[in-house]
Formats: sequence, structure tokens, C-alpha cells
Amino acid sequence: MTTGITRRDWLVGTTAVAGGMVFGSAASAQDMSEMMNMGEPISKDNPIRYTNNENPYGINPKAMDVIIKAYKRAHLYNFTIGRELTGLIADIENIPSECVAVGAGSSEFLVAAGALCGISGGDLVLPHPTYATLTRSASALGANIIRVPVEDDMSIGLDSMRKAITSDTTCVYLCNPNNPIPSIIEKTSLEEFCLEVSKKAMVVIDEAYYEYVRDDSYSTMAHLVKDNPNIVILRTASKVHGFANVRIGFVFAHPDTMEKLRIFRSGTTSYPAIMGAITSYKDTEYQKFVIDKNYEALDIVYKMFEELGMRYVKSHTNFVYANAGRDAMEVRNKLLESGILIGRKYDPFPNWIRISTAKPHEMEYLTRIYKRDFG
Ligand SMILES: Cc1ncc(COP(=O)(O)O)c(C=O)c1O
Repeated sequence: MTTGITRRDWLVGTTAVAGGMVFGSAASAQDMSEMMNMGEPISKDNPIRYTNNENPYGINPKAMDVIIKAYKRAHLYNFTIGRELTGLIADIENIPSECVAVGAGSSEFLVAAGALCGISGGDLVLPHPTYATLTRSASALGANIIRVPVEDDMSIGLDSMRKAITSDTTCVYLCNPNNPIPSIIEKTSLEEFCLEVSKKAMVVIDEAYYEYVRDDSYSTMAHLVKDNPNIVILRTASKVHGFANVRIGFVFAHPDTMEKLRIFRSGTTSYPAIMGAITSYKDTEYQKFVIDKNYEALDIVYKMFEELGMRYVKSHTNFVYANAGRDAMEVRNKLLESGILIGRKYDPFPNWIRISTAKPHEMEYLTRIYKRDFG
């Protein structure tokens, strides 16, 4: 497929162009004074963000144009345009369109699924550590939270999860790939787990980082929702599509489950956001560009971990997780002095740091400063 967009077009408006840096000239970005963020020199108050697993290239420029034009109609409610987007996603995923709903980011569905789980009472079983949003609404509405520690290799152990599931379990949450640990669960064992556990509890699989995975042992579980009202899949446009603050996310679920989730949703999604998402999801070339650059960025930081002998988890996402051998907040605060903002500390691993990928020259900068400060 060809879109007529060049790599240079993709960079227009990004920090690389605003900072006068040409694509691929990573090596020149060595000093803090040369580094730019949002067109301004970086500093403690204007750091490069290696913190929220965002897309450093931003929104697809074609989608951006569509979003801006769509604002001319944004004073009007639009209750039907979502169907065009859900139809497109259903085609891409090869599932019925009545099994797809769009919302304001996947958080909307995480909150709704958590609420559904909470009002059912009983236990919510989930790995530890993992993404927290679903837990918050579930526990606020009465669920008892059971956290299952990850295995020694930092992966999610399905057998350990099984052992924690009892007759009181009403919901199981799995983030695949996980966050803050960027590991994946093998597809055949996950499918068996979903089919078995969904007989008695709702299984929610959060696939926020799905598009980044390049491993044959991984698969979405989207195909299971059509025949299983107890299986719910979540996706987001916040990552590869760069829609973190545009707000588009999806739930894949059986129509009966959709009805139950609807109670906890506003049901209104921004028209410009939907129009932009339609363009972005159709443009696979831009998505491939973002994913290729992500793997380039990962290689740069892996090289440093290996040089420094740091333990890390192979990433299937746009972030890495590594043992810094010292308090994660100490590392975060020190790097911030050089205009580098990495992730916060996550229980139960106080010495592990999460670093989101940025552009390759920004990753080179991070590794140079990290080695200087902690090497
Ligand atoms: C695992 C996971 N799920 C969901 C989300 C939230 O995504 P959204 O922006 O679609 O609400 C994130 C955001 O970082 C995430 O890491």
C-alpha cells in the first residue's frame, strides 16, 4: 500500500525538525544544549518524555489534517459516525461489528469492566505488577483484589494465576503485553486459560501494546469474544497511532456483555477523534514506520543494558524495564537534571526502572547520560 507520504512528511512538526535535526543524524545529539523538546531546548522543566509510553512521532499527519478539518463540525453531536470506525476495526480484526465499541481511550472500558467486576462482588485476580486502572473501579465498587506475583523471570505465570482463582473469583485481568513489565503470554496457553476460566469468571485482556509485538508466539484473543460473553478485549489508539490525548480506544466483547458495559459509559466519543482514527487505522505504512523506529530505539537501550551488565526484560512494547541496582526514584531524579524524564517506581520492584522509547537520537542521548551518571 502506498500513501504518498514521505518519511520527511512524517517528521514535519515533530521535535526532530523543529530542533533542526535531520532524520538519522542521531550521533550529533550528544550535548544537552543540542537537544530539543517541542521546539524548545530541553531542561528539567522541559524534559524529553521517556515516561508515559507515548508515540514520539505523534499523530499521523494525514490523520492530523482530518482531525483539524473535523473540528468545523465539532459543535454538533454525532451519534452515528462511530459505526464507520467500529466497522473498520471489525474488518481488520475479522470479528462481527456488533462485537466492537469505540470509546474515549481504553481507560473508559477499563473503568467500565472494573465497575462490572466490582458490582458482581467476589475476587478480582490479576498479576503483580500490572496496569492499575481496572483495579481502581473494581475495588471502589467492592471487589476483593488478589495480586499474583510475576514469576522469577518476570513473566505472568498462568499456573500461578490458576492457583489464585477460587469459586469467589468473578474477574481476571491480564495485560498482554504486560505493563510495566513488557513481557508477553504464549498464545496457545493463553487461549486455553481464557476458555477454561471464562466458564466461571470474566476474563479481561488488555492489549494496549498489541501492535508492537513481533513474536510468533503471541496472538490477540479477539477471536474468542464472539462465542464467549465472559471474554473482553481492550485496545487503544494511544500508542502506535499517537492518540494519547485525542482519546480513542476499543472494547471487543459479545453483544450481551456490551450491553452490561454500556451502563458505565458516557457513550459519547469526539467526532474529530473518530474521523482521525479512521484515517490513521487505514494508513498501515505510517504504523509500520512507528513500529520500525521503536525497535531501533529498543536496540540502542538494550546495548547499554548489556554494556553495563543490567538485567532487563525483552520488550514487546514501546518501553523497557530494567534493574538499575539502586532506587528507581534516585535514578529518575538524577536523569531529570539532564532533561530526561523516565517512568516512576513500581511496586514490588523498587530498583527497576521503566523507560519509554523515544526517537533514536533521543535514546542515544539517554544512554550517554545514563552511562555518565550511573555507569
Ligand atoms: C496497559 C495499558 N492499558 C491501557 C492504557 C490506557 O490507554 P488509553 O490511553 O487508551 O486510555 C495504558 C496506557 O498507558 C496502558 O499501558
